[in-house]
Amino acid sequence: MNLSPGLLLRDFRLVDETLDMPGSVWIEQGVIQDVFPQGATLPETRLPMHRTIHGGGTLVLMPALVDLHAHFRDPGYPEKETLESGSLAAVAGGYGTVVCMANTKPVIDTLAKAKTLKKRADALGLVDLYPVLALTQGMEGKVLSDIHLLKGPLSKTEPWIRMLSEDGKDVVSDELLYRALQEAHRLGIPVSCHCDAGGPEAEEAKAAGKPREFWSRIAENHATQRVIERARQAQGHVHIAHVSTKESVDLIRKAKGTQQEKTGPQGFTLTAEASPHHLCLTHGTAHALGDATWGRVNPPLRTEVDRQALIEAVLDGTIDAIATDHAPHTEADKLQGAPGFTGLETSFALCQMELVLQDRITLSRLSALMSASPARILGLTDRGRMAPKFRGDLIVVDTEAAWQVNPDLFRSRGKNSPVPGLPCTGRVLITIYQGRVVFESFLSHDS
Ligand code: DOR
Ligand code: ZN
Repeated sequence: MNLSPGLLLRDFRLVDETLDMPGSVWIEQGVIQDVFPQGATLPETRLPMHRTIHGGGTLVLMPALVDLHAHFRDPGYPEKETLESGSLAAVAGGYGTVVCMANTKPVIDTLAKAKTLKKRADALGLVDLYPVLALTQGMEGKVLSDIHLLKGPLSKTEPWIRMLSEDGKDVVSDELLYRALQEAHRLGIPVSCHCDAGGPEAEEAKAAGKPREFWSRIAENHATQRVIERARQAQGHVHIAHVSTKESVDLIRKAKGTQQEKTGPQGFTLTAEASPHHLCLTHGTAHALGDATWGRVNPPLRTEVDRQALIEAVLDGTIDAIATDHAPHTEADKLQGAPGFTGLETSFALCQMELVLQDRITLSRLSALMSASPARILGLTDRGRMAPKFRGDLIVVDTEAAWQVNPDLFRSRGKNSPVPGLPCTGRVLITIYQGRVVFESFLSHDS
């Protein structure tokens, strides 16, 4: 790995989950060496070869973002995204770590397939990619994938695998789901449950021709309840992906309230994520974009009541993290009804505008939701914070920059943004990965 000899980030507003102060940061060998408060003596002459980036006292320096949920479509769907285009989109959005779902072609259901992907991503040197392993072979819900063959805990044997998931195809068989959760517990990593599919009541409503927003709500609520119950039995860590209904929020809040006293910290663990689109948009947007085309996503954009419940859940800690569910598709696929939005390059601005600029949370809290907390969910103790010994994965942000979403300018091949043309405030200007600048939108702060 080609690590930068030294990088001085000077005169910034330094923000992480516990920090908001003026100062400077010194990175060497890819790792943060020092965090200096304003006025401290800086190590400018310590190394002959180093680069300085000036923050001018106003630009923000934060830990790079950590995404628990993205689809890079590689292998199998290069017309939607590739490892290269997905990684470029990630760094343009400020991400240093990305968890990639296994619903590729072929499905990532063996250690060998995951390893190939990881090696290719590392060779690009742009983001730290964590491939997800599917729970069952081919995501067919019949036979367990390689997970039962692996030695645990994975943090000791295969530390580059940090999450398991069957993606939108929840494991239907209760017994198989239970076994998968037990294996995950033995391996010491979370299972991300999408909770999109589930339950006879939802199937009946669907068969009776009820609208999607009706039966998909029943399905999500049922699936959320079910995985919480199974995880309680298996003592595993379940992570609920893209929570979207008020009822799911309530179920998660209640379960979190009882998890400690019932099972203790080593047992059942429950975490949850919300996506920027569910936090910021409602079914009105889906309708305007086209419910069956550009506005279609799983789970669907819901009502204002649901959205407010999600924001409440962010405020009280029921939602632990914000994850993009970056789901790039081609124009042709969207017109055929493929669900999903491209999201890596707009997530920071959307969340800043909705949560920070509306005075609901501080920038430090947003940093926790997008960096420190997702890193903790993955058990990655070396990132998500801005302190000595943490990785030199940082972003420079202009929280006041005004810009407009133009999907044609995305690095992602997926132009299926739910907010084309939206005027935004707040932009990632520079992304630093292990002390190297891997993305910069302009050079005027350089020296
Ligand atoms: O809308 C979605 N699309 N939601 C998901 O969770 C996955 C996805 C996809 O893979 O396209
Ligand atoms: Zn997904």
